[in-house]
Amino acid sequence: MNRYKIALLAGDGIGPEIMQQAEKVLKAVETRSDVKFDLTPALFGAAAWFETGHSLPQETIDICDQSDAILKGTIGLNHEDTQKIPVEERPERAGLLPLRKHLDTYANFRPVYLPAGLKHFSPLKPEIIGDGIDIMIIRELVGGLYFGEKKLGVDEHGQRYAVETLEYTEQQIERILRVALETAQKRKGVLHNIHKSNVLKSSVLWNEILGEIAGEYPDVRIEHMLVDAAATYLCLNPGQFDVMVMENMMGDILSDQGGGILGSLGLMPSACIGPNKAYYEPSHGSAPDIAGQNVANPYSMLGSVAMMLEYSFGMKDQSKAIFDAMEALFVEGFTTPDLVQPEVENRMISTDEFGDKVAKAISKS
Ligand code: IPM
Ligand code: MG
Repeated sequence: MNRYKIALLAGDGIGPEIMQQAEKVLKAVETRSDVKFDLTPALFGAAAWFETGHSLPQETIDICDQSDAILKGTIGLNHEDTQKIPVEERPERAGLLPLRKHLDTYANFRPVYLPAGLKHFSPLKPEIIGDGIDIMIIRELVGGLYFGEKKLGVDEHGQRYAVETLEYTEQQIERILRVALETAQKRKGVLHNIHKSNVLKSSVLWNEILGEIAGEYPDVRIEHMLVDAAATYLCLNPGQFDVMVMENMMGDILSDQGGGILGSLGLMPSACIGPNKAYYEPSHGSAPDIAGQNVANPYSMLGSVAMMLEYSFGMKDQSKAIFDAMEALFVEGFTTPDLVQPEVENRMISTDEFGDKVAKAISKS
């Protein structure tokens, strides 16, 4: 029997309630497979700050280091509550980014996936969606604009100013491009390289490095596209994309747009992979406005569980079973409020019921 240690960082807002569904589904996977998951909860985010004074306490780092994989919920508070925490200690800056840096999870996989049967969730016209949407956005996650040098100051004219730096070394660029090229090889052999080389020097270097290594992947056709144009084409012709790779902030923005073309950020799981460790998280935020109401869509969280099973533990069949169970729920008309449609049958279910149904489907199948 395989045993895996998993750290559970539920976080803030809807994090704890969607994490409960993840636990249910992991228990269900144990019933159908020769595997045991040892789950260790750990404080993270604003919840951790209020309890320990740190968004990423040392104890949580230790638990993550001792785990085979990490599941993260969501972090962050509403605008008002956020003000209670000093700017530099807030969960995004002092929790999530340091976690990514510590684990060196440079490769962020964000699937933008909508089978044809669920076309009605998308705000795009059916003829634009065609056979469905199936894109893998690969976002560089530990470099670029979010991690470069930052400064706030006042100049000699008394003007306040801010400086953010977009920094990449060639090693950082090369490793993410290789991940993208390898992913393209395993999928359709097409890679869209997203950049802004008409303005940014970092993109010029990025493209130069891609040109240097591309020859090692003769089976991958590389398409170059400026990031602003890519934003347009994600709406006008998403079918042209299969694997897309880009810098950290570009990936942050375009992956949320990916959620937009699916119809909800509730449909965006993700995997954050480093050389030694990986963690898995929904791409969306903590939705403090609906927290605790049992109405959040747990798909992104459960999809992240499925990605963990595949990427960290090689359990491809179990992973697929989770995605299939969720798709089947939607096909039967079950839905959470973020996905409600005007002209189809909506059978509203709670966060808990969603988790129960997926867990039941998994246990039986
Ligand atoms: C994401 C989030 C984070 C990011 C925030 C919470 C710091 O938006 O994972 O996409 O910008 O990376
Ligand atoms: Mg984001």
